[in-house]
Amino acid sequence: MSRRFVGARLARPDGPDKVAGRARYVADTNVAGAWLGGTVRSPVARGVLEGFDFDPRFDFSRCVVVGPGDVPGANVVAMLADDLPLLASRAVEHVGEALALVAAPDEATLRAALAAIAPRIVPLAPIFDPRESQRVFKRLTIEKGDAPRVLAQAERVIEGEYETGSQEQMYIEPQGVVAYPMDADGTLVVRGSMQCPYYVQKALCRAFALPPERVRVVQDATGGGFGGKEDYPCVLACHAALLALRTGRPVSMIYDRHEDLVATPKRHPSRVRHRTAVDRDGRLLAMEIDVLLDGGAYTTLSPVVLSRGCIHATGPYRCDHVRIAGRAVATNHVPYGAFRGFGAPQTCFAIERHMDRIAHELGIHPFELRRRNLLREGDTTATGQVLRESVGSQAVMERIAALTGFDRHAWRAPREGRVRRGVGLSFFFHGAGFTGAGETLLQGKVALELESDGRVLVRAASTEFGQGTQTLFQAIAAEALGCEQDDVAIARPDTHAVPNSGPTVASRTCMVVGGVLARACGELRERIGPGEFRTRARAFLAQGGDGRVEQRYEPPPTLEWNEETYRGDAYPAYGWAADVAEVEVDLDTFEVRVTRFSSALDCGTPIQPQLVIGQFEGGSLQAVGFAHLEVVTSRDGRCLQDRMATCVIPTTLDAPEFRTELVPVPFSRGPFGAKGVGEMPMNGGASAVLSAIEDALALHIRRAPATAELLCEAWLAEHPQERL
Ligand code: MOS
Repeated sequence: MSRRFVGARLARPDGPDKVAGRARYVADTNVAGAWLGGTVRSPVARGVLEGFDFDPRFDFSRCVVVGPGDVPGANVVAMLADDLPLLASRAVEHVGEALALVAAPDEATLRAALAAIAPRIVPLAPIFDPRESQRVFKRLTIEKGDAPRVLAQAERVIEGEYETGSQEQMYIEPQGVVAYPMDADGTLVVRGSMQCPYYVQKALCRAFALPPERVRVVQDATGGGFGGKEDYPCVLACHAALLALRTGRPVSMIYDRHEDLVATPKRHPSRVRHRTAVDRDGRLLAMEIDVLLDGGAYTTLSPVVLSRGCIHATGPYRCDHVRIAGRAVATNHVPYGAFRGFGAPQTCFAIERHMDRIAHELGIHPFELRRRNLLREGDTTATGQVLRESVGSQAVMERIAALTGFDRHAWRAPREGRVRRGVGLSFFFHGAGFTGAGETLLQGKVALELESDGRVLVRAASTEFGQGTQTLFQAIAAEALGCEQDDVAIARPDTHAVPNSGPTVASRTCMVVGGVLARACGELRERIGPGEFRTRARAFLAQGGDGRVEQRYEPPPTLEWNEETYRGDAYPAYGWAADVAEVEVDLDTFEVRVTRFSSALDCGTPIQPQLVIGQFEGGSLQAVGFAHLEVVTSRDGRCLQDRMATCVIPTTLDAPEFRTELVPVPFSRGPFGAKGVGEMPMNGGASAVLSAIEDALALHIRRAPATAELLCEAWLAEHPQERL
């Protein structure tokens, strides 16, 4: 049957308002009588808070100041663990940690009040190097076969250690929420910029000792997230709500860019060690992988970031003997959190750089080495998952070769001139949906409601933050119902109006939530019967038909996962992709220009191909930034790139020419055969760029970002005669 919406190019329902400036972001809302909230933060990375000095020259009756003792419930921002306090009460663990909150009627008063409060902190020696940390948030081991034995007996073992730095999400719109004092029914309302309204609700319930029915969280138009609005809105919502309850007024807390950069989570820095036994043909006989993530000061999401990182640590390669040991540890950095890819970009970077190293040492072409080892249908992954279907690995490798000719490119051949050109490859995968039993436990729900005019309202907590959730849902619903795009309205994510379809994270919205939506639509369509949709729908309602449907996630029946042993089906399905980056490196300045970037990817049936391509190219540009431009460092625990002038990300001028080709291998359990795509591009871009730099300069760089300074040092180490 031919499809009208799936695979077509639909207009974005959220597009016109965003383009015209009519969309209302949290900062656009003028809330009558609202005060502004601000945060007293720690200037030191570690210490003991003894109290505050209040400058007597400021009249504190003009504002309201609250501390941890004012929290009505637990002084905890509920996430995976209970270690993150809403406000530090004694132990201070990072620069920028929230110690107290202030509400004031206007900006000038708020600034003056914040300047008049000085925390008294007895400093302690901070820990910044994760290798020195004694506190482990999460440790895990994945074991398949007997890697230590095979490594001990192997003729050839190739080792390498790879590092990635942190990275800032740099969503366009900084974090912001508005909290309202309890309404007449005793309900607390918070609205704002966020990915996961139900996460925010859960955190508020805990901190304010309220049942979910008395906490309402509503998403405003949201200007980007990339994972950065997965966990932090829980913190900000608790802060604003505490001030709203204490002042009895709405309180708006909207960070400026500086505060956002200093205080909110970024990507986990990583250090990954590989020891690999290979035979002379380059077959991977055994892999031992050690993954270390800097988790920062509190647990936040580090255990699941580590988990996804470790599961992806072998890359998309087949190996019978694997041992992966991962640790996420505490330091006195700002807590690291979710960022597109969730640990996988770090480990995929390491394995891809390592594959280039193996290729070079064995004298095998990097394309051929990967081709020989790629996971194919019927193979098992490191967790013992049998890849039963929808494995696009060979298809994307064939397509990238046809598109770029990289399989015939003389990689690392000698080059001439002051501008060196290079071409590099990466091959990668990404599991769609929550890891392991996550989706089964969550049971994401979607509801439909047929309205009297024959339109259908889709109720789900899945948020639009630029990636195209609304368009995707309209396409799936219109296709499954047999109606028009305009017949499908998408409810605003509001915990009092939509069921919990789960957080908008983990490349799960299309495959998991979209799948539930498609089933719900199938059920509704069956109820109202065949024929022109709106006519039938109105007649159905007129006859007293029930136009409400709710469906929940049903896991594939064969899915099995053991959280203790880390064995089983880690994800329902994987996306597969290959990138080829082309670069020019200037040997005078060591600037890298990525000139062209080609990709072939399988994310199953693309529901909206232009959205898939948009996701992939945008994510690839973020990965290009991660590869060589985006430096995020700190001194004494204070973020040095604390404004957009210094926290550099790629602009349009840094963007290569993209060529992106879809190679769909449909997944039978996904809606219309779709899988996920949101995070995947982040896993491959950085290593492809470093592979191209290696081709250009014959330098094997093991660290991202490969800045001009780092390249210059590495070059001079190899060419000491060029040192001035
Ligand atoms: Mo994400 S990094 O799963 O929002």
